[in-house]
Amino acid sequence: MERAMTDMPDTETVLTDLARAIAGKQGTEALQAAVEVLKRAIPRYTWVGIYLLEGGELVLGPYLGKPSPHTRIPIGKGVCGAAAREAHTIIVPDVNADPRYLACSLETRWEIVVPISRDGSVIGEIDIDSDLPSAFGAADRELLERAAAIIAGKI
Ligand code: SME
Repeated sequence: MERAMTDMPDTETVLTDLARAIAGKQGTEALQAAVEVLKRAIPRYTWVGIYLLEGGELVLGPYLGKPSPHTRIPIGKGVCGAAAREAHTIIVPDVNADPRYLACSLETRWEIVVPISRDGSVIGEIDIDSDLPSAFGAADRELLERAAAIIAGKI
């Protein structure tokens, strides 16, 4: 958690930048801008992507990082599918120790998946991987849950 605390930018600043970046944009263009703001603000976020729920599957939308083989994930599969089914944030501190994990990169150590909901239903999620040994803490959860609420209005 130490690293998460030391290089965490101010949450309000990141959210203001996010809101500004997506203002006047909708859909893929807004999601792309959101991914760019989060990736740039927090270098610890090695891979940042947004999945959208389409017909019972999570479909990969805009992302920054290495291409992922998991472009479509059924609800219930992987950490992403679990977060969508359970409709709450999941933080995995050691992806190799979590049997749900679907590998995207051999370097990944941590993953956080934050559902994006509208009217009480999950419509997508923010998925972030980090290659660092200690990547995500309470501040990341707060930032990303608030970011998800902002992004929800653009989907
Ligand atoms: N690790 C995810 C799959 C998506 S890639 O990390 C981009 C999972 O277990 O659902």
